[in-house]
Amino acid sequence: MDKLELESLLLDNVELHFFDVIDSTNTQAKKIAEEMALCGALTPQLFVAKAQTSGRGRMGRLFSSRADSGIYMSLLYFTDKPLWDAVSITTAAASIVAMEIERVTCESMRVKWVNDIYNEKGKVCGILVESVPISGDNVAIIVGIGINVGEDNFPKELCGIAASIGNIDGKEEKLVAEIVKGLLNHASAPEDRGYMAEYRKRLMMLGDTVNLLNCGEIIDEGIVVGVDDDGGLLFVPNGQDEAVSIHSGEISLRVKS
Ligand code: BTN
Repeated sequence: MDKLELESLLLDNVELHFFDVIDSTNTQAKKIAEEMALCGALTPQLFVAKAQTSGRGRMGRLFSSRADSGIYMSLLYFTDKPLWDAVSITTAAASIVAMEIERVTCESMRVKWVNDIYNEKGKVCGILVESVPISGDNVAIIVGIGINVGEDNFPKELCGIAASIGNIDGKEEKLVAEIVKGLLNHASAPEDRGYMAEYRKRLMMLGDTVNLLNCGEIIDEGIVVGVDDDGGLLFVPNGQDEAVSIHSGEISLRVKS
């Protein structure tokens, strides 16, 4: 990833923070959000690293972030729109990232509720949305995205789970810039749920019997029937007729074996 090339492709109002190595671009973005709030500067900030030493995933998991094996980025923006919500931002981000990866790789991507993007071989991307209350109605939103690129040579514990979108040399900067553009468009009109059609087209496990897990513990079993307009998972628990909408970022799914 070339810093100058990326800078030249970004919208003028986006400030770039580029690192060879950092603990976590999300952690860095959170620190800067607090500093920026104190001085009232609320312009979008993009954090990109070639490697992370403590990349974070959902539910306190680590996100493997080896040098030159992925795109590790976090977009920080500020909003006072009451409509923001982590699950709907995550579903919007997943649709945007899946579409942009498809554009670059010409390969189809699928989405596992709520935030994981898959190709034929496995998980190629994870998204971690975090927020920091600023003042009054203002909230800092951090959309962290990790995309595996390059060879499929993952650490042992990720074999059979993670996959890579392959080599996209010379196209990484454009991919990042287009994702940022899409996320900022969504931030300016979060009430527009047009992207949900893209999300639904790619939804995995539709019609499958799954276990719902809360931090690894099975809490329910039923059938996935869709996703509502706010990004909530529509799930019919076993023994019931009506779907319920699951809106917690702490919940994950596993196909029942
Ligand atoms: C997940 O799969 O649970 C989400 C993974 C999110 C990883 C990205 S990499 C860039 C940003 N910085 C982090 O520490 N995490 C996100």
